[in-house]
Amino acid sequence: MNEKFREQIENATKHYALLLEEQLERAEKIKEIKDFVDYSKKDKIIIGVCGGDGIGPSITSVTHSVLEKLLADEVKAGKIEFRVIEGLTIENRIAHNKAIPDDVLAELKACDVILKGPTTTPQAGDGRPNLESANVAMRKALDLFANVRPVKVPDQGIDWVFFRENTEGGYAVGSKGIHVNDDLAIDFVVTTTEGTERIARLAFEYARKNNIDRVDFVTKANVIKTTDGKFLKICNEVASEYPEIHTEGWYIDIMTAKLVDEKRRRDFRVMVLPNLYGDILTDEAAEFQGGVGTAGSANIGKRYAMFEAIHGSAPRMVQEGRDIYADPCSMLRAGVLLLDHIGYSEKAKMLESALDYCMFTDKKVVITGRDTGATTKEFGEYVLANIGK
Ligand code: IPM
Ligand code: MG
Repeated sequence: MNEKFREQIENATKHYALLLEEQLERAEKIKEIKDFVDYSKKDKIIIGVCGGDGIGPSITSVTHSVLEKLLADEVKAGKIEFRVIEGLTIENRIAHNKAIPDDVLAELKACDVILKGPTTTPQAGDGRPNLESANVAMRKALDLFANVRPVKVPDQGIDWVFFRENTEGGYAVGSKGIHVNDDLAIDFVVTTTEGTERIARLAFEYARKNNIDRVDFVTKANVIKTTDGKFLKICNEVASEYPEIHTEGWYIDIMTAKLVDEKRRRDFRVMVLPNLYGDILTDEAAEFQGGVGTAGSANIGKRYAMFEAIHGSAPRMVQEGRDIYADPCSMLRAGVLLLDHIGYSEKAKMLESALDYCMFTDKKVVITGRDTGATTKEFGEYVLANIGK
């Protein structure tokens, strides 16, 4: 070993050993839970509601009231309980110096599913403690391995569902990289067999259930050969169990380009991607639908599930006093996904049709993100008034 670096290498190696141990233990744990929870067998389903930060409380409360109205009978009958969980705010997270304070995590774990507003993540060097993102922490703590993000633009023939792996890739140890010395920083990408199998299988099951005959995989396996290579290999293995479904592998760069290609993009239906590519590609995709403010996301695990907007807390909108004009469609779409996930697919369809009608057909009340358009609340009322149309 080059003596000059001995101490730095030894320190980094110790840190690396701990990360390896943590990831090996996680990979073992994934295997323990085999089946998804069956909501139809539950006497009561508890829906936790966390407002989050920035525009979060405003778009979440609109969605909460829409869901309360849609589920009013079930709430009365004691089959559904809404539970508001305070404390997932940036102030409280900083006060506890934790991405999710322990008591908040305990409250989350007492729920079945969670509706969560966007949460602010401090950035390195912004003067606040460099906390891990509450989203990322929650996905890991509740093992929400699948980030399912639908995007559709009916008049352009776009009808996509992204299955983004949600607990691995560049995010698995994203907050625990190593500054080996002043010159060298190293982060890690993690792919596990079980972790990849379960996201691929969920995507194929979705395709089969919905009579979709095509699933595309998106990686950069030509360069990130070990981890992306493994992801692609496992996707192909799972694909062999679904011979009726046509599959293709794409590299992230060309897929990013193809989503803009009006002739080709309507061919895509279901896409399976590692975490970071899924993060990036779904923001691009949402832009075609009207912006990230219009897209919802389901974070699904075998025991828990969490539903949220695909975007962040938009502190700039709050600073500029525009939070009351924030688009609630992202959270309302998350509400559709939540209803569907807990078995209320009729109600999910009712809300989805109302949203489609308001966003794509009627367009009488329009959100612009500023005082030229409707407020968040007005849009929520508009959607409610159009349920059943
Ligand atoms: C998302 C967000 C998060 C992510 C951020 C807020 C950590 O961009 O849900 O897509 O990167 O996953
Ligand atoms: Mg994102």
